[in-house]
Amino acid sequence: MFDSKIYTERRTRLKEQVGSGLLLFLGNEESPMNYPANPYHFRQDSSFLYFFGLDTPSLAAIMDVDDGKDVIFGNDVEMEDIIWMGHLPTMKERADLVGVSETAPLPQLKETIKEALQKGKTIHYLPPYRPESVLKIAQLLGIEHDSVKKYASKDFIKAVVAQRNIKIPEEIAQMELAHEVTNDMYLAAMRMAKQGVFEYEIVGKMEGIIGASDCHVAFPIILTKNGQILHNHYHGNQLAEGDLLVMDSGSESPMNYASDITRTVPVGGKFTEKQRQIYEIVLQAQEMAIQNIKPGITFKDIHLLSAAVIASGLKEAGLMKGDMAAAVDEGAHALFFPHGLGHMIGLDVHDMEGLGEDYVGYDHTVERSSQFGLAYLRLAKELESGNVVTVEPGIYFIPTLIDQWASEKKFEQFIDYAKVEEYRNFGGIRIEDDILVTQDGSQVLGKSIPKKVEDIEKITATE
Ligand code: GLY
Ligand code: MN
Ligand code: MN
Repeated sequence: MFDSKIYTERRTRLKEQVGSGLLLFLGNEESPMNYPANPYHFRQDSSFLYFFGLDTPSLAAIMDVDDGKDVIFGNDVEMEDIIWMGHLPTMKERADLVGVSETAPLPQLKETIKEALQKGKTIHYLPPYRPESVLKIAQLLGIEHDSVKKYASKDFIKAVVAQRNIKIPEEIAQMELAHEVTNDMYLAAMRMAKQGVFEYEIVGKMEGIIGASDCHVAFPIILTKNGQILHNHYHGNQLAEGDLLVMDSGSESPMNYASDITRTVPVGGKFTEKQRQIYEIVLQAQEMAIQNIKPGITFKDIHLLSAAVIASGLKEAGLMKGDMAAAVDEGAHALFFPHGLGHMIGLDVHDMEGLGEDYVGYDHTVERSSQFGLAYLRLAKELESGNVVTVEPGIYFIPTLIDQWASEKKFEQFIDYAKVEEYRNFGGIRIEDDILVTQDGSQVLGKSIPKKVEDIEKITATE
């Protein structure tokens, strides 16, 4: 947990920004896997963590903007809890740690909300993403559960995003911790990318390294020789010489800050000429994007810059043809690079996505495109010092998509479908790092995990 001053200052700023009413925060509950006493790993709500810091289930909080009062709602443990789960400090003691002087038992939340509604106060809440939170809000406010998302407070969302957007040094230190573990994971995983190894063996090794470092996975590990499937969670394949292995994973620090890294390696330690050529294009697109990140530039421009590098590299490889500026403008490159360049990262891997992607990645200066590929760009707005973003370009050969576009003769003036056919079983390549936007440029978080061809080949060939 950070110093209590950090939480107090965040809450003060939030109240100033929203202006009036009552801000309702629901912490998360335990989530059962197959029966109530057998829960998944507990993950607290990130906005609750950000403003109230307490990382245990069944908590809620309010900030009364009009009288400046903050209250944390939660029950003190009783003997029965102590027998099964051990002792916990009192709610009062725990609230003190985050600078909150008032606590109340959880059932009192309903009464507090009722009184506020009777006084005509606006109750602001954030859009819930768990079904039990939807039900709780519906019950607390007396509204239909299918109206809950619609009435989430835009002012509240925007005020939260405005703060969580900018990471302070204490948060960056947490992200660096997550990267230390991720670095160890990748060095081990790269060495295991050998003929005969099953994908799940590498996943198991990576999860073990995360667990042994008091961290958790930030999201289910993507590790596949079928990298053309962007978020492939199947781990049952046995690796063979000549496969390309895409590994996209991250850890979450003890205070829940994430890392998100992707590396693509040749099984057995040597890229084929064809693989190396495509790999170099993706790497160049990533490096060009990182070099150009600085405050004031839009992430959409960074995305388009990497798309241009990809398109011209593919032209050189004979897969695209014609005027590449026009091709990128019209979206022809999206056959190979069908996703956005990256996203914000912080307490959530896709930071704040639960609050609504457009509130996080877009603002009045930039509208979401409807063009295939560009439409998936999660982050488009102008970058500011203190943002942390991922940069993760890729080139993929997705047979079903290729067949569809080819049959439609889509962008025939830009795509050489006969040449593309030679790459039908190529798979995919993605390279991802996490970048802090600094006052005058950018800084890649974490130690540098090998990504140059010769460094990758060296480590994958090592026992
Ligand atoms: N981990 C999914 C992504 O890179 O966005
Ligand atoms: Mn990733
Ligand atoms: Mn990512």
